[in-house]
Amino acid sequence: MVLAGLADSPVLNGLRSVVETLRGEAGFVYIAKARRVAREKGIDVISFGVGQPDIPTFPHIIEEGKRALDERFTGYTETAGIPELREAIADYLNGRYGAGVSPDEVIVTTGAKTAIFLALASFLDPGDEILVPEPSYPAYPEAARALGAVPRFVPLRWIPGRGFELDLEALEAAVTPRTRMVVLTNPHNPTGALFSPSQVDELMELARRKGLIVLADEIYDNFVYEGGFKSVLEHSDWRDYVLYINGHSKTFSMTGWRLGYLVARREIAQKLTRLAVNIYSCAPSISQRAGVAALRGPWEPVREMVEEFRRRRDVVVEELSRIPGFEPYVPRGAFYIFPRVVGLLDRLGMETEEFVDHMLEERGVVMLPGTVFPETAGRGYVRLSYAVSVEKIREGLARVREEVERLLAERGRR
Ligand SMILES: Cc1ncc(COP(=O)(O)O)c(C=O)c1O
Repeated sequence: MVLAGLADSPVLNGLRSVVETLRGEAGFVYIAKARRVAREKGIDVISFGVGQPDIPTFPHIIEEGKRALDERFTGYTETAGIPELREAIADYLNGRYGAGVSPDEVIVTTGAKTAIFLALASFLDPGDEILVPEPSYPAYPEAARALGAVPRFVPLRWIPGRGFELDLEALEAAVTPRTRMVVLTNPHNPTGALFSPSQVDELMELARRKGLIVLADEIYDNFVYEGGFKSVLEHSDWRDYVLYINGHSKTFSMTGWRLGYLVARREIAQKLTRLAVNIYSCAPSISQRAGVAALRGPWEPVREMVEEFRRRRDVVVEELSRIPGFEPYVPRGAFYIFPRVVGLLDRLGMETEEFVDHMLEERGVVMLPGTVFPETAGRGYVRLSYAVSVEKIREGLARVREEVERLLAERGRR
């Protein structure tokens, strides 16, 4: 039976208002927009929007996934993950960071995003505050808001020619009695920043002094092009302050396999598993088997991919430097760049979103507006992902350059 009027529908009327205000994730919205433009206008769209490597999952990982299927390894697993995977994750982190992680401090999740949600849902009460350096990957503040907590945005510091760094004084000044957590994404999405070891040390020191949890998302820890990456796990007291997030999506190009993990001190990991079982039961069994193969190696394909990304980064920087009004810098991690275009937009009399939409509609080039990361600090910036071939980077950015020059000739003089 269908209820008579809209007023009677508890489904229509019962939605929590905060859910109405969630914004989704722009990357996914722009994938749909790009498809529409390609279909309606017949343009060969070049997308700098996607946050995933363009290379398929490496063959030895796929083979292990197939083997798991052939062996009918298709049932539920332990919620925290199969022991082989938890061990492989601990070995990876210990081999790299000397972290002393034990397998029972690892919870395998359905992608890093679920690990983020699990962490926030387990520690934030309604009204609690979480410090989010901005621009930011949107999942932390969005999930926090969904839980009734309050994101406090603290702009990163923009240093012309050098890019972005944490503003530790501003972070400290933003701490209130309700602050429970501070987010550290390193290497950073959307800016490609690699925060220096001394900044990581200072953030940990701030957490110690103020009694805050550091939600450390190091999902891009293999995409580091210049030395100087320090993991929070290199701090011997990480267990007291850190909820650590990582995953297979980027390093092994496994976004669709949905495999991530959370690391926390043993007692906490056990308790979080009780929430995890009620959300997703376990990560996909086949993906977990493949995830073991990924971590056990060979690692050569990862190294080759990262080398390729370094080449692309250099091409992106070179091409962006040729576009009037773009202020690029050399990003040292992840596979994003977040050039400032404030002056250009002022000259064109355009808002960030308008500029980005214009480039898509007129020239078939997808960039993401800085304003989707996720509030105001990204106004006047655009994000480009260079998980795209060198030829496409050159072609896409040539289109942007031509269009910017045309617009400047047409509008800039007004
Ligand atoms: C910083 C950061 N954390 C987490 C994720 C989500 O990863 P997953 O696909 O494993 O959920 C992303 C994906 O873009 C990301 O950029």
